[in-house]
Amino acid sequence: MDPKPPSPPHVLIFPCPAQGHVNSMLKLTELLLPAGLHITFLISAKDHDRLSRFTTVHSRLSSYPGFRFHVIHGLYEGPIDTDEKLNLMLIDSLPKVTTPLLRNLLLDSQVTCFIADGILGFALDAAAGTGVPVMFFRTVSACAFWAYFCIPDLINSGDLPFQGTNLDERIVNVKGMEGFLRRRDLPSFCRSGLSNTTFQEVTNITRRTPDAHALILNTFEDLEGPILSHIQKHCPNIYTIGPLHAHLKARSISKSTSSNSLFQEDRTCIGWLDQHAPKSVLYVSFGSIATLTRDQLIEFWHGLVNSEKPFLWVIREDLVSSLDDENKVPSELEKDTKERGCLVGWAPQEDVLTHSAVGAFLTHNGWNSTLESIVEGVPMVSWPFFADQQPNSRFVEAVWKLGLDMKDTCDRRIVEKIVKEVMEVRKEEFEESARRMAKLAKESVSSGGSSYRNLDRLIEDIKKMSTQSN
Ligand code: UDX
Repeated sequence: MDPKPPSPPHVLIFPCPAQGHVNSMLKLTELLLPAGLHITFLISAKDHDRLSRFTTVHSRLSSYPGFRFHVIHGLYEGPIDTDEKLNLMLIDSLPKVTTPLLRNLLLDSQVTCFIADGILGFALDAAAGTGVPVMFFRTVSACAFWAYFCIPDLINSGDLPFQGTNLDERIVNVKGMEGFLRRRDLPSFCRSGLSNTTFQEVTNITRRTPDAHALILNTFEDLEGPILSHIQKHCPNIYTIGPLHAHLKARSISKSTSSNSLFQEDRTCIGWLDQHAPKSVLYVSFGSIATLTRDQLIEFWHGLVNSEKPFLWVIREDLVSSLDDENKVPSELEKDTKERGCLVGWAPQEDVLTHSAVGAFLTHNGWNSTLESIVEGVPMVSWPFFADQQPNSRFVEAVWKLGLDMKDTCDRRIVEKIVKEVMEVRKEEFEESARRMAKLAKESVSSGGSSYRNLDRLIEDIKKMSTQSN
């Protein structure tokens, strides 16, 4: 009798239930499946329902018999735009509900390897003693990861907690960022004091990354090489395989955009973009979590209108808490907004950024958005909201020279000035550096490029683990 063929490697993938995390870890999944890996993808009931309603993910993945969603019920499903609400999900709900489930899956489902979102520290504890190697996938940039990683050193050097209120003071104790990092560019949680629970949680879990078998990052060497070499001293086994969305297209796994939107996309804006001249439109979006006060909204609105550029603006239903239909468009801005603006609740962002009419992106610099802008060579105006976005926007301006950072202010005159600076005064300079970086991004995911090779290596290493455990 022929011996039973070895079963294919089985990978358990678990993202934090939030748009930016689910999106990039689904993209990772779509890159791994064609290699013959079996994948169980853990997802909250709410996100599963939204993906089913707003995307084609089920039909895209149905051709892989080894794929299944495992739906988790009973998780906190509210917003996560403040420390308290984030804690409710990260520190309370997720570990309580999923630890027993993870133990069962890891012990009973012949899992070869567990790719956990690196923000979910309890995943390491849940896997302890099961013999299943844990790989951490961080959805943030290498520069944000490294800034988090160095926080204990900043406490030792006395940089943290901040003494006084000057956020422009230099931080010279994060290696590789000595020349340009200011207090205001550190992850936002650093502003809230050492006893803040989110600060402690994110710091502790990041520092535990070397305990994982490997670290997978959605970035590429030409973008973050110098910072990656600092991380590598602590986490020798790193796979940089991004930008994931471009990687999927480069391998012809998906010709069109693989949308993983948890909100309903309004595609009418593509028709609106079609009516505009190349590189004339400012695209504005603050991602899936950021919120604005009504005052901030009004300042942005005046600044956009006064810049006199056509603008496509994503105003999510929950972007501003006190926005009702009656006072949606401020009356003094109604005429200009009608003439030059297009407002949507959620855009097909990857397709928007690919559109020739888009000339710049006013963004919160969430890491997915930043990479999507980089790949399409679209210069940025940065307005980071929280967490990793503060270091990202500093890198956009000071290191990659891909735009300007207006963090911590949204005064209408500043909005107008910076938009004009990026789209008129220094247009060619920013377009040139954006074009250069876009080329490097695309090369990295093409055959022979660094991210392409690293993905092949990741797949081979998972297959080797499977042979060893069979
Ligand atoms: C946040 C973080 O800042 C991010 O860096 C982290 O990795 C995850 O949490 P988020 O606010 O969701 O993420 O921003 P971002 O990472 O940019 O992800 C948003 C995603 O939603 C992008 O892929 C973007 O294309 C998509 N999007 C956004 C749309 O499809 N339509 C929109 O209208 C807005």
